[in-house]
Amino acid sequence: MKVTVVGAGNVGATCAHAIAHRELCNEVILLDIKEGIAEGKSLDMWQTAPIHQYDTRIKGVTNDYAATAGSDVVVITSGLPRKPGMSRDDLIATNAGIVRSVTENIVKHSPEAIIIVVSNPLDVMTYCAYLTSGFESSRVFGMAGILDTARYRAFLAEELNVSPKEIQALLLGGHGDTMVPLPRYTTISGIPVTELIAKDKLDAIIKRTKGGGGELVNLMGTSAWYAPGAAAAQMVEAIVRDQKRIYPCCAWLQGEYGLKNIYLGVPVKIGRKGIEQIIELKLNKEEMGLVDSSAAAVKEVMNVLDNMQTTAVK
Ligand code: LAC
Repeated sequence: MKVTVVGAGNVGATCAHAIAHRELCNEVILLDIKEGIAEGKSLDMWQTAPIHQYDTRIKGVTNDYAATAGSDVVVITSGLPRKPGMSRDDLIATNAGIVRSVTENIVKHSPEAIIIVVSNPLDVMTYCAYLTSGFESSRVFGMAGILDTARYRAFLAEELNVSPKEIQALLLGGHGDTMVPLPRYTTISGIPVTELIAKDKLDAIIKRTKGGGGELVNLMGTSAWYAPGAAAAQMVEAIVRDQKRIYPCCAWLQGEYGLKNIYLGVPVKIGRKGIEQIIELKLNKEEMGLVDSSAAAVKEVMNVLDNMQTTAVK
């Protein structure tokens, strides 16, 4: 098995290291456009192998896509991160150009790969990779829901003073402030969360989850990387180990949830073939209303991309 991570910034490097550390494949290629960065970070990581006791080889390259040839999974993390005061959507023009050119190179060298997109604005960059690749949608999807539910679960674990391992949760919608955490699908070791927490506390946690990425941008002056990198690695694991895990991921909807031709976060089953099933929940009216608003927000940014593509063709 071979996995490529494109972009050796904080998220890409964290993801590559998590993949190697967990021995998810024989070889990880880390690629960046900045001379020496991927080589340096990979060398540094490889020198942790005797300490952490793993044997997955990590190789860094500068823009050398030939070295990525035949990858089974490719994680795209390239693009500018957010700065304070920026929304994820502000990144669209720059990052769309980057994601498009990365995807073209991936398709050329790894035509059978499964592509996981991590670049922001997430839902629309996943759409961009899908359009560019021409791959079937089961092989192009985005990482957001695992990260967003991880934040939600971490906040709940802290509030309830229980192990994060006990908390199962689901979240739908776009990777933005309109995301939809679902209390009705949140349990603490099987116990409905509403039995253990007051409504105002849960509402505050949901609000904090929605702004979870922005909270970190404000603290650090750039966007987060430990949880985003680990979340992407978890998706890689589900694919390479054919685990059939159920995760919220950004997937191409063709009528599910009453939505069509849109990339949006929904629960999916992930295995060796990529997305093997999209799971439709029986949402109530209020939940569906929130998902619809989130879909409308994502669609607006997808339209910006569509207009950019049309202009480019002209
Ligand atoms: C975040 C960025 C990676 O949510 O979108 O932290």
